[in-house]
Amino acid sequence: MNPKKVFIRGIGSYLPERVLTNRDLEAMVDTSDEWIVSRTGIRERRIAADDEFTSDMATQSARRALEDAKMSPQEIDCILLCSVTFDMAFPATACIVQKNLGISSCPCMDIEAGCSALVYSMEVAAGLLQLGHYKNILVVASDKLTSITDWQDRSTCVLFGDGSSAMVLSTEASRAQAELVDTLLRAEGKDGEILMQPGGGSRHPASVETVQNRLHYLKMNGREVFKGAVRGTGAVLKDILARNRLESAALQHIIPHQANQRIIDAVAETFAIPLDKFVVILHRTGNMSAGSAGIAFDEAYREGRFAENDLIAFATFGAGMTYATALLRWLA
Ligand SMILES: CC(C)(COP(=O)(O)OP(=O)(O)OC[C@H]1O[C@@H](n2cnc3c(N)ncnc32)[C@H](O)[C@@H]1OP(=O)(O)O)[C@@H](O)C(=O)NCCC(=O)NCCS
Repeated sequence: MNPKKVFIRGIGSYLPERVLTNRDLEAMVDTSDEWIVSRTGIRERRIAADDEFTSDMATQSARRALEDAKMSPQEIDCILLCSVTFDMAFPATACIVQKNLGISSCPCMDIEAGCSALVYSMEVAAGLLQLGHYKNILVVASDKLTSITDWQDRSTCVLFGDGSSAMVLSTEASRAQAELVDTLLRAEGKDGEILMQPGGGSRHPASVETVQNRLHYLKMNGREVFKGAVRGTGAVLKDILARNRLESAALQHIIPHQANQRIIDAVAETFAIPLDKFVVILHRTGNMSAGSAGIAFDEAYREGRFAENDLIAFATFGAGMTYATALLRWLA
């Protein structure tokens, strides 16, 4: 028996209001607009308010995706939420979003796969839908990365921002925008130490020492992440194209993780894909972890960039290290 087809029925995203520019950062650490733009492409990023948490941004993007799907929250029968900055260790932030949406009883769970988690969650949602237990799954990616950003570390603090994206995955084709054609996920745990937040878990529970040693902030070996990103993203993209007997020229749009323009340039060069096929928003958002690619996807959708039958590939990387790609065919 062929597995059921899975569709995207609603898309939404949310960016907080406050803008932090490179010039603002120049006043905070020893950096310059010129360095940040030339090394990353980032010019500004959005910062959540002090009392605005991962679940609040997730609720906003979820509401927009539901509105786009013309669905009420009651029609959602499962919520998957991905992040690296959950509201708290437990309960799951997905449960908080369920409460915020005014619904109850549907299963809710959090998924952690670094910045690849949106695509990871799309595959998990597709599998759950194909089990037949659910009809409409809300997948939300949301991160308040600035809550774990070390504002004294110039090598990381210039890179990140906050934001959220959401989509409704469904076995129902009516009013769907896109069909989920395929997903491919990968992880390399041996590379985990190049990108982590060491403090706060069972290995380094919060203590005076973990705070003094700044272990509750994001730590990164930027050069190694850069190399892994180019290699790993290229590999999953190559493999999903081969598995679907497609050439890269068949892709009309690539939705990359929004981390660094130079990483995107390198992937484009590897595949000889014209840069204008890449949906890029990082110059005004920075890297918002799992939410990034979904926000770029939503903005391109709302700008009318996708046409019927267009093939769209997500291509992401993140802490883990994780790598993930999803292939969509645009329907509407
Ligand atoms: C972080 C990153 C932009 C750094 O760029 P880079 O070209 O590798 O720069 P380097 O780390 O080699 O640093 C070069 C120099 O710039 C300095 N530097 C680092 N951050 C700086 C900043 N914000 N402003 C000015 N100088 C800075 C370094 O101290 C170093 O100086 P030195 O040569 O005197 O030691 C790049 O490695 C990167 O984007 N990596 C991937 C990060 C990523 O995607 N993370 C998210 C994963 S989901």
